[in-house]
Amino acid sequence: MIRAIKGTRDILSPEVQKWQYVERKAREICALYGYEEIRTPVLESTELFARGIGEVTDIVTKQMFTFPVGRESITLRPEDTAPVVRAFVEYGLDKDPNITKWYYLGSMFRHERPQKGRYWQFGQFGIEVLGTENPAVDAEVIELLVHYIEACGISEHELQLNSVGCSVCRPGYTAHLQELLRAKAEQMCADCQLRIEKNPLRVLDCKVEADQPVIDALPPIDDFLCEECRAHFLAVQRYLGYSNISYVRAKRLVRGLDYYTKTTFEVVLSGLGAQNSVAGGGRYDGLVEELGGKPTKAIGFALGLDRLVLAAPEASTESSGVNVFIVSMSDRAFEFSYGRVQSLLRKAKISCEVDYQRRSVKAAMRQADKKKVDWVILVGDDEMKEGKVTLKNMKNGEQELLLLDEAVQKLI
Ligand code: HAM
Repeated sequence: MIRAIKGTRDILSPEVQKWQYVERKAREICALYGYEEIRTPVLESTELFARGIGEVTDIVTKQMFTFPVGRESITLRPEDTAPVVRAFVEYGLDKDPNITKWYYLGSMFRHERPQKGRYWQFGQFGIEVLGTENPAVDAEVIELLVHYIEACGISEHELQLNSVGCSVCRPGYTAHLQELLRAKAEQMCADCQLRIEKNPLRVLDCKVEADQPVIDALPPIDDFLCEECRAHFLAVQRYLGYSNISYVRAKRLVRGLDYYTKTTFEVVLSGLGAQNSVAGGGRYDGLVEELGGKPTKAIGFALGLDRLVLAAPEASTESSGVNVFIVSMSDRAFEFSYGRVQSLLRKAKISCEVDYQRRSVKAAMRQADKKKVDWVILVGDDEMKEGKVTLKNMKNGEQELLLLDEAVQKLI
């Protein structure tokens, strides 16, 4: 038997109905907030991610599915912000004075050790707003995220908020961290020792227990933020207050991608185990320029759909399947069921299915129960001659003999 490869999985019923539900909710909320869909390719040039996400990030150094094609190096997208920015620049939207508001739903690929909520191929729903530095947009993006998670039936969530400064003030902070950390480097894990030299901010994200006392003693970025970043962050918090979005200040939240500036945030859910971060995002005011476009301020988030579906209650499920099961009691009745009954029902937009297996009526009724249909139409030889069928209500067991047209009318 050939199985799905490690880190990937098939999504079948009933889980797939949850996916359909959360995908529909994503499209609905994006329409409400005025976001248009963008679909970027799954394949991109490797350089896009190396430049976009950062050469020394975990994603770029360890997690990308990269392979040569001719002379090119190609990568399966590990995230969609860099591709979205590539498309933004490629279509010249960086020269458009208007704001661009996009959303996406699709598969991303990261080569990480698989576990609950962490896969090689996973789904993301994300939004990106390009073309404004207005802090009210930061609040809008966060509000959309929180309202979306709630619309998916999840009320227990925690929004964590931070600012990581900008190219003016962050270098002073990272230099200070580096100086403090170099003195402690020997006590820290091997990853942190590397981070201290290459990307000291990422030390704040270390989960190794023994490193925590050193990290806890580091100063927060607040004391280093420049006037502009400070004012921006205060404004974001003020706008969040208008829509009653509650959050915790997470002074150590630095995120794993290098493009972030100013506002960063994550939403964590309880009950997901180690992979409890369902969504993350922030500003990336320098990325458009980094990828060859006109300087353009931008912000967005991405949410992991696999994790959301794991946490979503059973009620967050698309109603599925057929509503009427059509059971035929003879060969002639089957011809009538197939040729006439089901086509009339479908014309009336009533979902239905004929029983193809043609076992006993008893077996067909058991099948109808399993399918959880509301109605069964029984087609018998004699009634059929008079254009009649038996309509059975599966909820209360009542049944009546009706002209086919009457039965259809009753189901509309
Ligand atoms: P990220 O934090 O790398 O951000 O990923 C966002 C979400 O994708 C995570 O919170 C998690 O739910 C999900 N995720 C990530 N890796 C995996 C995995 N291996 N298996 C299952 N789910 C996973 C980004 O991707 C940024 N592009 C977000 C962003 C958009 N920032 C600005 N705009």
